[in-house]
Amino acid sequence: MTFMDELKRTARDVDTLLDALLPLDGAAAPRLVEAMRYSALGQGKRLRPFLLRESARIHGADDARALRAGAALECVHCYSLIHDDLPAMDDDDLRRGQPTCHKRFDEATAILAGDGLLTHAFFILAAPQTHPDAAVRAELITGLARDSGHEGMAGGQMLDLQAEARASHDEAEVLAVQNLKTGALFGFACEAGAILAGRPKEDRARMRRYAGHIGLAFQIADDILDVESTPEELGKATGKDAGAGKATFIDLYGLDGARARARELVETAQEALSPYGEEADNLRQAARFIIERRK
Ligand code: IPE
Ligand code: IPE
Ligand code: MG
Ligand code: MG
Ligand code: MG
Repeated sequence: MTFMDELKRTARDVDTLLDALLPLDGAAAPRLVEAMRYSALGQGKRLRPFLLRESARIHGADDARALRAGAALECVHCYSLIHDDLPAMDDDDLRRGQPTCHKRFDEATAILAGDGLLTHAFFILAAPQTHPDAAVRAELITGLARDSGHEGMAGGQMLDLQAEARASHDEAEVLAVQNLKTGALFGFACEAGAILAGRPKEDRARMRRYAGHIGLAFQIADDILDVESTPEELGKATGKDAGAGKATFIDLYGLDGARARARELVETAQEALSPYGEEADNLRQAARFIIERRK
């Protein structure tokens, strides 16, 4: 199977599992579950679950458990997108080629759908099917909590919004925003595979180094696509970041400078994988995909 086939396979598997984990039948608040399903199922590259699954595979962890952890991580990611699109944040109307959650439903429902998905992620991780050893489950829960919260994604989103108010940004500020808002969840994706396999901290640290480089490259690519792509191709609004005063590498170094930085990061990420053999080829290709993707 090619890399793209593998990525699509994971997208299908994540969809099937999330469909089962978010049943509408018998829901206490059907409208809320409908909104959660609207934003969690269907489109989406499912890159974070793919990375988690690949990291689990190269470290020898069970694939069904990795898929559950990946589905939990995707719930957090989808929640972050719902809230990111709210009028109080980026104020976007289009996401994954369809109206954003607050446009399709309403703002209060979108806020609650985000809350519901974030919470459900930990419900999934805490279940014994995710790992029979409660200590491993606790490590996953602790890791995802840290990488989603004030020391991770939510913290980065705060810094992203605060940076909008400043006239100019320096590299340290851009790095802090991007490593937290995007890098942290990539960090969890890559580390969780090693956690599931019970591997020592050296393996976990190596996976986090790889993730740090690709996470930053991923956000640089996202910022480049905001300039170069179209809503039709990307499935979300484009041409918004510069006017909003977002702290990006393009803002610092221009498009060519940002592109060069992303390429360097891909090489550094691939170097971090040098202790692994060809079993890590999908992770090497994922690093390239991150900067070459058109979506
Ligand atoms: C978008 O993430 C948000 C960022 C961190 C830039 P993705 O580009 O992975 O979004 P989906 O899940 O494929 O829609
Ligand atoms: C958002 O970054 C990162 C998140 C934590 C959701 P962006 O605001 O650039 O993501 P898009 O471009 O809306 O997907
Ligand atoms: Mg944003
Ligand atoms: Mg946004
Ligand atoms: Mg963006």
